[in-house]
Amino acid sequence: MLKEIKKGIYFVGALDWDRKLFDELIPLPDGTSYNSYIVKGENKVALIDTVDPRKTGELLYNLKKLKLEKIDYIISNHAEMDHSGSIPNVLKLFPNAKVVTNKKAKPLLVEFMNIPDDKFILVEENDTVNLGGRTLKFIMTPWVHWPETMVTYLVEDKILFTCDFLASHIATNELFVKDKSKSLEASKRYYAEIMMPFRAMVKSDLKKVKNLEPSMIAPSHGQIHLDPSFIIGLHEKWVSDEMENTVLIPYVSMYESTQKLVNRLVYELQDKGINAVPINVVGVDIGKVAIELVDTATIVMASPTVLSSVHPAMAYVAYLANVLKPKAHFASLIGSYGWGGREVDNLIGMLKNLKLEFINPVLVKGTPKEEDFKRISKLANDIFKKHMDCELIEKG
Ligand code: FEO
Repeated sequence: MLKEIKKGIYFVGALDWDRKLFDELIPLPDGTSYNSYIVKGENKVALIDTVDPRKTGELLYNLKKLKLEKIDYIISNHAEMDHSGSIPNVLKLFPNAKVVTNKKAKPLLVEFMNIPDDKFILVEENDTVNLGGRTLKFIMTPWVHWPETMVTYLVEDKILFTCDFLASHIATNELFVKDKSKSLEASKRYYAEIMMPFRAMVKSDLKKVKNLEPSMIAPSHGQIHLDPSFIIGLHEKWVSDEMENTVLIPYVSMYESTQKLVNRLVYELQDKGINAVPINVVGVDIGKVAIELVDTATIVMASPTVLSSVHPAMAYVAYLANVLKPKAHFASLIGSYGWGGREVDNLIGMLKNLKLEFINPVLVKGTPKEEDFKRISKLANDIFKKHMDCELIEKG
């Protein structure tokens, strides 16, 4: 897609409608985009980020269509290949261009693409590049989500090019956010899967970004924000320590025994005014679990015992939760077993990155009986008390 987003500033990136997975792991129900931007000054021309190598042809087509006489600077905000992978081809087309990046990104770019040393200009915090009437300013925003990530601020136009930061995975003809609920869903999924493990760093980088008071946020995935306060406000909520009065219940059930326990727990929690979110994780888009992990206060995993531990589908969820590092405070386990196992110990071991307080599990031999449902009621009550006592949980 080629589109002028402001006089002399063009979107020259590519939409990837068909991409189903990122990193062959993260489901992309709405595809994605690799956003790349041309900024023309009175004297110089800059290209901000490139595109995934598989979309290089589209980027080059857009650049040729613009009939650019030159590109002086290729700004590389982030060395990951979905933004840097087309740099060698752009350099072939514009051999006098310099790659502007920081000292942490350079070795990665050299490693990935063998870019010659003399092609680089290294910048540090608040360094600027003058394009003639337009100034690019560089701000280091490490760990959103790699150590070398930075953002580029176009000072006079107040446009912030954030690369992966404040982005979303969505392919759409609407370059700018119009439907905020659609943007919220895509942005939350993106935050959950990519940024949440770095919550503390995101929080500090977010302050830097907010202080710039941009009037437009142009990331390198997904839509452009003309109302920066919307996307910044969402991130402020997600990175805060506050949680929602919610219990996420990822579950697997083989013979409906665990399912019955889940149904009763959901009912009991709702009865106490707590949001219960059961998600059957078998064959589900795992991103749905990640999205719920952003704000939930409690995680109750529900699984039958299989081969002396939790079901492998639940082990995958536990692995995911452990690496995504959500801010949840409480956890428990419910499920049915035939002859026992060590699933509680195993689960606690799988979640060791999280600072969770484990509430007594409810493990049931065979089909749940009336006394087992009473134990579920007690678990719901225990969770209710924990939530009531926790000042970080919004009671609403
Ligand atoms: Fe969109 Fe970290 O690359």
